[in-house]
Amino acid sequence: MKVTTSLAAAAATAAVLSFAGPALAEGDPAAGEQVFRKCAACHTVNEGGAARVGPNLWGIYGSQAGSNEDFAPRYSQGLRNADFVWNAETMTPYLINPREIIQGSRMTFQLRNEQEVADVIAYLRTLSDG
Ligand code: HEC
Repeated sequence: MKVTTSLAAAAATAAVLSFAGPALAEGDPAAGEQVFRKCAACHTVNEGGAARVGPNLWGIYGSQAGSNEDFAPRYSQGLRNADFVWNAETMTPYLINPREIIQGSRMTFQLRNEQEVADVIAYLRTLSDG
């Protein structure tokens, strides 16, 4: 299912309240690896990789938002205080517009294509120990 922009906005609102958004698009991890090139200017994704402009994203799927210790001093207040886990429902509105769910987010990049959002999330999901 394709999520429309207005649905995504609704999902973002729902995410703030309960993380119960509408059904999300299916992602393709292989396509997501290509999409990740757009993120790679600011994020490494290998295990133990260095922080760039943003934190390393190994194991990000399923982990607590704002919990990368190497990056801790550089997180925005909003991400530092965030109390949720990164999954498809939380990452989707974040990648479309970070400030939609993290007030004052320091991530200025927005991924507007919803299929690309689903794909890159599917890719990140493959990158963890579990
Ligand atoms: C221009 C640089 C830049 C680009 C490009 C970028 N990010 Fe970020 N990202 C950041 C910064 C800076 C932060 C920290 C934000 C904050 O502190 O509010 C961040 C944070 C994140 C977080 C939260 C990490 C955590 O530890 O909770 C995720 C997830 C994320 N980015 C995913 C992505 C993905 C996926 C892409 C590509 C679609 C991407 N980012 C592109 C700079 C970037």
